[in-house]
Amino acid sequence: MISKQAKKQIDIWVTKYPAGCQSSAVMEALKIVQAENENRLNADTIQAVADYLDMPGIATQEVATFYENYNHKPVGKHTIRICHNISCMLNGADDLIAYLEKKLGVKTGKVTKNGLVNVKKVECLGACVGAPMFQIGSQYYENLTKQKIDEIVDNLK
Ligand code: FES
Repeated sequence: MISKQAKKQIDIWVTKYPAGCQSSAVMEALKIVQAENENRLNADTIQAVADYLDMPGIATQEVATFYENYNHKPVGKHTIRICHNISCMLNGADDLIAYLEKKLGVKTGKVTKNGLVNVKKVECLGACVGAPMFQIGSQYYENLTKQKIDEIVDNLK
């Protein structure tokens, strides 16, 4: 259920915490497992993470369903997590969201026909100084303009 490669990545995170506190790596472990399972989690993958970190399944499920980082429905290969919180909103996020929807031909929450991209509106990602911004994978893109969005989105494969 969890590949050797994923286990190696999770193990790196586990070493960042004191011995016996491996469950502290749960958020990164879920992210790693999600990335190798079509960018989403299900009951089996969540339980696999719980087993690997030797933590209760319900506690792992709580983390996986509380945060917006995790997907539980089919999503695109790339999720554009665009912030629409106050700093980004004041710097044009709503206009950029509308631009993205028109460019991709989908509303937020939906996946493009080719399965490549979905757009998700999220709350503050802690990069207000670079507002407006979005995140793809672990990369932040800040001070967005329509031109910048074109450059970034047109290079997604
Ligand atoms: S309000 Fe958008 S990153 Fe903080």
